[in-house]
Amino acid sequence: MNDQAKKKQINAIKGTKDILPDEIWKWQKLETEARLVFERYGYREIRTPVFEATELFIKGTGSTTDIVTKEMYTFVDKGGRSITLRPEYTPSVVRSIIENRLNLQPQPLRFYFIGPMFRYDKPQKGRYRQFHQIDIEVFGEKDPAIDAEIVEMAKNLLTRMGVTDTDVLVNSVGCQTCRPGYREKLKQKAEESRSRLCPDCQRKIGTNPLRIFDCKVEACKEISIEFPKITDFLCPECDEHFKQFCKYLDAFDISYSIEPSLVRGLDYYTKTTFEFSSRSLGAQDAVLGGGRYDDMMKEFGGPDICGTGFAVGVERLLSIVSVEENQQEWLYLIYLGDEAKSAAMEVARFLRENGVKCLVEYRERSLRNQLSRANKLNAAWVLIIGEDEVKKGTFQLKNMKTAHQDTVTKEEILKHIRRTN
Ligand code: HAM
Repeated sequence: MNDQAKKKQINAIKGTKDILPDEIWKWQKLETEARLVFERYGYREIRTPVFEATELFIKGTGSTTDIVTKEMYTFVDKGGRSITLRPEYTPSVVRSIIENRLNLQPQPLRFYFIGPMFRYDKPQKGRYRQFHQIDIEVFGEKDPAIDAEIVEMAKNLLTRMGVTDTDVLVNSVGCQTCRPGYREKLKQKAEESRSRLCPDCQRKIGTNPLRIFDCKVEACKEISIEFPKITDFLCPECDEHFKQFCKYLDAFDISYSIEPSLVRGLDYYTKTTFEFSSRSLGAQDAVLGGGRYDDMMKEFGGPDICGTGFAVGVERLLSIVSVEENQQEWLYLIYLGDEAKSAAMEVARFLRENGVKCLVEYRERSLRNQLSRANKLNAAWVLIIGEDEVKKGTFQLKNMKTAHQDTVTKEEILKHIRRTN
């Protein structure tokens, strides 16, 4: 390797990005609000590994989905196992419940989770290869009221983040009883339009024609508008579940539109599906999506326990939130000389122990330089410690907003700061 090549800057991988200190407060705010809202509804946090056996997603997410066929980060590890960086969270939670026998505990099976996901899709605004989800999952509740309650909970979280202009789309994708009949009708109809569909959708006619509704090609979207609608094929049980779901949404005072093409890009859904979209987002307009999946646990060889849940796309949500940063006021310590430096370190420790945020920078600078630095960094207070102050045990406390300066003892600093905070 030559010198030039050695010095070449190494950048973040395409489709990933750093979350920098200036924006992290929004992430923290969202995470705090999510925990607060979810815990009020009886959810508890769960954390599972970032990578899992590839098989988990093939079986869970579904072998005909775009995620599994095109977007997984899969590799063979040193032990020869096929590993995948999780593209979504739902199959991991189901695996964890079965493996840890969580269903045998008396607590409700309601979980939330916050973390990164990985999908090898074409990066663009709102679509990344590493992105983050806040996800919730409920198990063992068949009642459509829980589907409506999670929609209400999602709405609640968005409202707390200042996002009130989303559209709620809902649908039912039926079950093992009614979907095969619908799939057959859909297949026949799609066959008639085969030559006008993109090559990918032509392939989907044979594998899973429902996946044609996920296609992003404009022509395919237009053609699929004419396709039969799943809601006209629901069996009595699914039909009743959907009606009840809508009734509960009305009771929660949530406005929504029924969107029969909302099959969502995952194979596991049964009955309810829903999505929150925002016009401010552009092409990737889904902020949040979810639905019911009554068969996954059983298909994984676990107990016959139904599930329902949703995931929020953190990057997408944060790009449309309107919340103010709530900054804590803090103090910048200025010291002049070695003795003052030791005093500054001691005062800083005292202040921090008493809950005051303060900063000491260990660089030799003049008083003027340090004052201008505190000003640039937006410190609310400055504490000046020089040789004189060390001898007397008092300090100069300056309020940067009013420019008022006082001579204070260590204990008096606390009183001054608390009085104005
Ligand atoms: P999903 O619709 O695939 O559902 O993803 C949920 C949300 O994650 C999307 O609405 C979007 O905001 C965000 N998202 C998805 N892909 C990307 C990406 N490449 N870049 C940025 N954001 C993205 C699920 O993942 C299901 N597991 C949700 C669920 C939970 N269903 C039942 N329980």
